[in-house]
Amino acid sequence: MRIETAGELLCPDEIEFKLVSDLIKSRFGLVFDLGRTGILKNQLASRINELSLITYTDYYHYLSYHPDRTPELEELARQITNGESYFFREHHHFEILRDHILPRHHARSPQDPLRVLSAGCSAGQEAYSIAITLQEAATGTGAGGWKVDACDIHPGRLDQARSARYGEASLRTCRNADRRIYFEEDGNRYRVRSEYRNKVRFFPANLTDPAVADWGRYNVIFCRNVLIYFSDDAFHEAIDQFTRCLLPGGYLFLGHSESLINRRDDFEPVSLGGHIVYRKKAAGPSSAYS
Ligand SMILES: C[S@@+](CC[C@H](N)C(=O)[O-])C[C@H]1O[C@@H](n2cnc3c(N)ncnc32)[C@H](O)[C@@H]1O
Repeated sequence: MRIETAGELLCPDEIEFKLVSDLIKSRFGLVFDLGRTGILKNQLASRINELSLITYTDYYHYLSYHPDRTPELEELARQITNGESYFFREHHHFEILRDHILPRHHARSPQDPLRVLSAGCSAGQEAYSIAITLQEAATGTGAGGWKVDACDIHPGRLDQARSARYGEASLRTCRNADRRIYFEEDGNRYRVRSEYRNKVRFFPANLTDPAVADWGRYNVIFCRNVLIYFSDDAFHEAIDQFTRCLLPGGYLFLGHSESLINRRDDFEPVSLGGHIVYRKKAAGPSSAYS
């Protein structure tokens, strides 16, 4: 038997799968296109097995009504999100922050710290790369300093971020000399040194959840390699949230496969250091940094 839903002919098993994948889309904003459906099915099969359930519908009911649905949603988020990250990924972004954005900010607002958010921070590699960049650049300038906030949907990754301990894979682009400056050895791990850790704050957040309205206000947001997995609606919800919490003239950094061009008119692409970043359009010319 095949049943028509929204113009598609689906067999009962696919309809049950769609129930769960629609729930994932609405809770986390994540979509799994044809090439990635198999991956999602494998991950769901392992959760269904683990909970001694049988069908996708059982799992849908578990996620919707079971008393333990909150920890299961967290576990599901862990399984279906990609947490790949490493220090100084797309290193030119950190050079832009150091060479263009920080000096302009301190020239305009010498007493104010530069406030940066790493949204979808995984285990903190991006947030600490920002912190290291800003700490090194601000040393001795007497400027207002910096603050970094970072958030992710996945509590386990945030726990690792707070512990600031990493293995080789996370440091794969760091030169030996830099490793010794930024990290202390901790058994077979590397721990970010305290001078780079102590102005970084981590908090849990779902970027597509409208209840995140109490975020801070930021001069710069990094949201890299996160939106690429989002549905169109979730993409716009996340950017709406960034628009609300970015200060006028503030900058948004996206990953190399992500773009706002022809998708948003509240940001403009600007070239800094030969690379495109997005600047929130300002109400008046005086509020932009450039
Ligand atoms: C591939 S990692 C990117 C990490 C880092 N930004 C980088 O570029 O190295 C994507 C991160 O986005 C997080 N994420 C996915 N969906 C999210 C959502 N709806 N809200 C908040 N974080 C989310 C995942 O948990 C994961 O840690």
